[in-house]
Amino acid sequence: MTKQPFGKTAAGETVDLYTLANSSGVEVSIATYGGTVTSLKTQDRAGRIADVVLGFNDLDGYVKATFYAGALVGRYANRIAKGRFALNGVEYTLAVNNGANSLHGGLKGFDKAVWAARELPGGDPALELTYVSQDGEEGYPGKLTVTVVYTLTRFNELRIDYAAETSKDTVLNLTNHSYFNLAGEGNADAMDHVLRVNADRFTPVDAGLIPTSELRPVEGTPFDFRSPMAIGARIGQADEQLERGCGYDHNFVVNGKMGTLRDAARAVDPKSGRVLEVLTTEPGIQLYAANFLDGTAIGKSGKPYQRRSAFCLETQRFPDSPNHPDFPTSVLRAGQKFASTTVFQFSAA
Ligand code: GLA
Repeated sequence: MTKQPFGKTAAGETVDLYTLANSSGVEVSIATYGGTVTSLKTQDRAGRIADVVLGFNDLDGYVKATFYAGALVGRYANRIAKGRFALNGVEYTLAVNNGANSLHGGLKGFDKAVWAARELPGGDPALELTYVSQDGEEGYPGKLTVTVVYTLTRFNELRIDYAAETSKDTVLNLTNHSYFNLAGEGNADAMDHVLRVNADRFTPVDAGLIPTSELRPVEGTPFDFRSPMAIGARIGQADEQLERGCGYDHNFVVNGKMGTLRDAARAVDPKSGRVLEVLTTEPGIQLYAANFLDGTAIGKSGKPYQRRSAFCLETQRFPDSPNHPDFPTSVLRAGQKFASTTVFQFSAA
């Protein structure tokens, strides 16, 4: 593991960039700003290396960008309707930063925090990041201590272990917001990637992308990725859900038991043969087809990041869970320990 300076925030905090490498040619860089995965290099079927995540060469790029590229997202990833929820009979109000709703932790979410970093001893390179979110920060109750460990395993997995504890009952949803293009970042279109999602159901949304509470079968809809299918094959269909999301921007209900690490999704770039497999202990996974990228952000290799030039697979609690008693709970009680794991595994076929 190597460490290098990555600049200073406007508040004068020092930001570092850690690079983890394994013996089979996978290399990942992580900035302490937002716990952001800034680069992820993997081999194609001919052994050629490409950086498969969108991002920027310097801190300034991340400070200015508004699309959470590669970042750790919290305290509540995804949306909370109208920025309101009740817990233990108390109403909490959050900043509204996405239409009428609160998105990705509010005005200064975990993606904009500088995390404390520590290299963990042992076999595979592992970086531990810690952030303490104060009681009342962004409107959320409880002082929350979050620890995220990124491990690059010898099996070409980027393993992300999340842990948290709170001083008061709170709500919590943690994810990593990497944008993947397995042909290499900067390629203009990622919709030819072939995706499989291990989900029989998804959570349809209203016009503001808030779940309606329904768990709808994917059967017979453009959300059926149970058999591999190009992401773009049906994205333009006249479908109310796709219209609401401007494409895929939806949470899928991962089959199998929440809390057990299980298959969630697999994406293949047919040209390069690069494969990404996603496993998670979380109940949901958001497929976001980068519908809101618009070519204004210029990425690491000088190319504009176009609409749909990447996709995100954000493992998570369901969006707006605090307002949907039937969804798996997102409440973390004082004294409880939160733990979840997501694995991004890379190979070539
Ligand atoms: C998530 C949301 C999208 C969008 C991106 C960030 O994936 O669901 O609607 O806000 O984050 O731009």
